[in-house]
Amino acid sequence: MPAIDWTSDLEIGISCVDGDHKVLVDLINQVHDCSDQHEESMILGSALSALMEYTIYHFAREERLLELCGYAHLEAHKRAHADLAEKAQAFHQRYKDSDDGEVADEVKDFLRHWLVKHIMVQDFAFKETCSGNQTAIDEAAAMPFMNGMSVAQKPIDWSRLSVLLIDDNPNFRLLVKTILKALGVRNFKQAPNGEKGLAMLAKKPVDVVMCDWVMDGMNGAEFARKLRQFDDTSPIVLVTGHLVEMYHDQGAAAGVGGYLQKPITVRTLLEAIIQTLNRHHTGV
Ligand SMILES: [Fe+2]
Ligand SMILES: [Fe+2]
Repeated sequence: MPAIDWTSDLEIGISCVDGDHKVLVDLINQVHDCSDQHEESMILGSALSALMEYTIYHFAREERLLELCGYAHLEAHKRAHADLAEKAQAFHQRYKDSDDGEVADEVKDFLRHWLVKHIMVQDFAFKETCSGNQTAIDEAAAMPFMNGMSVAQKPIDWSRLSVLLIDDNPNFRLLVKTILKALGVRNFKQAPNGEKGLAMLAKKPVDVVMCDWVMDGMNGAEFARKLRQFDDTSPIVLVTGHLVEMYHDQGAAAGVGGYLQKPITVRTLLEAIIQTLNRHHTGV
């Protein structure tokens, strides 16, 4: 059973706000599932980080919208967001220090109770002021994810990017799908192993392939070699729970363009894709 069921009662009627709230509900449910299934900490930790980061991103977007609409209670709304962010970050830090699944449950429960209450009361309160201001809604909707990004974010049109993720962990695949779709990727494909990934690419190539390096059966290195044998030069992001430095030589030999270490964050996921695409286009 999910931690939160999305119902129309939670819908405010402002697309970018409702869209963000749905993403937050999905991420809370994924933390819930990972914790229920005693999922390895690399995946649970990734889901928690994504939940924290997306919460902060959503707050910034919502506050921008309220500012553009001249909402009278903007400052009080900002204080409510800041209060939540501070408490959730303290919980998250405790989880990172302890790696304890029970702390992950506390973060999820705290955000679940807070989110539903905040949406139903404080977010619904700005509906009347903002729902008719399409210019402000469009501007808020177009806000890029910038939290702590260390690479120059050239205007990437995420909606035109096609991504294939090959990973044997279904919770990880779902998490990456949720994050990328939330940020605008419409063409996301996934495969549970290298063989299926190769078969999908033979039918239709993609702009970026992300591949887990340690898998049963065909591992990432074999996958990359086979892909190159088929003259497919798609940029590859190597994904691993080990230190990425361990795989630099093997990755370079197999034509890997970028590296992503688990547990991931939204920021590291985006940076790995952007850097890999940049290298691929400049040939560096
Ligand atoms: Fe809010
Ligand atoms: Fe909100």
